[in-house]
Amino acid sequence: MSDILGWIAAGLVLGIVGALVWWLLIASEGVYMGRRVVIWLYDLYAHRYEDVKGYMPEYEQLFLAEPLMDAIAPETAPLVLDVATGTGRLPLALARHPDFAGHTIGVDLSRRMLHHATRSVYPYDHRVTFICCPAERLPFPDNTFDIVTCMEALEFMTSPGAVLYELARVLRPGGVLLTTQRINTRLMPGKTWSAGEMLEQLERCGIENGKAQVWQVDYRKVWGRKRGESPFGGVRPLESILRCPHCDQQCFRSQPDGERSSHWLCEGCGRQADAGADGVIDLTPLYRGH
Ligand SMILES: C[S@@+](CC[C@H](N)C(=O)[O-])C[C@H]1O[C@@H](n2cnc3c(N)ncnc32)[C@H](O)[C@@H]1O
Repeated sequence: MSDILGWIAAGLVLGIVGALVWWLLIASEGVYMGRRVVIWLYDLYAHRYEDVKGYMPEYEQLFLAEPLMDAIAPETAPLVLDVATGTGRLPLALARHPDFAGHTIGVDLSRRMLHHATRSVYPYDHRVTFICCPAERLPFPDNTFDIVTCMEALEFMTSPGAVLYELARVLRPGGVLLTTQRINTRLMPGKTWSAGEMLEQLERCGIENGKAQVWQVDYRKVWGRKRGESPFGGVRPLESILRCPHCDQQCFRSQPDGERSSHWLCEGCGRQADAGADGVIDLTPLYRGH
């Protein structure tokens, strides 16, 4: 009898541990275990991400690229930053828009997601730059971009409020912010905001006229504009906006290494960042304490 009870107890313990591991690593995508685990999981999962998501190009046009182009009309050549770009969903949607003549910079901390982004986007458009760096400290000056986006990602950040503030910091006054609010909150308690909380957070960061729109099963789209006005910035060379994460100076120069790779040299502190054969610029070694 005591043997059977022992087996039942062991089965129960195993079941509970298994369910806990499933919830921590799969259902909530590592979000309760910190940034390193989240990024490690995205690195592991990068090769399957697009198949699992199955984004449909025509919906991406209708719900992402066209509304963004409408928001900046009659301009067509914005400087765009897509934070937590993943496999390049937003840069690809814009690249496929027939009127888009801008430049998109996609940043993410998962190097493998970015590698897949280059494979998805570069066959369509080379006016996209991918940079490996954290959303929490973006390597750009204040008031730089005409459009800043961050899709399906805030809930995976350790400090989403600080990341939202960082998105607003690099957006120029009058520029457009597009982000998302997760509405499927079942398996991520405490990690998501209600629509009201999200709009409050936007206000706190200087984003006005916030509005949440019904979109997908799991997410609402959330729009706003940065308080104030400034002239449309448009496309500019990367050298003129990229800031060294080590010394905070804005004097990076691209140095070709050969036919397929190059590096970026900071003329302020002498540190270098590699651009791999796939073209992704990896700034992570330049972050202190990374
Ligand atoms: C669900 S995916 C969304 C990707 C893309 N925006 C999309 O809509 O398909 C979340 C992305 O956030 C990235 N990410 C998570 N935490 C990050 C951080 N602190 N800094 C930069 N990227 C981060 C992950 O690597 C992953 O690519």
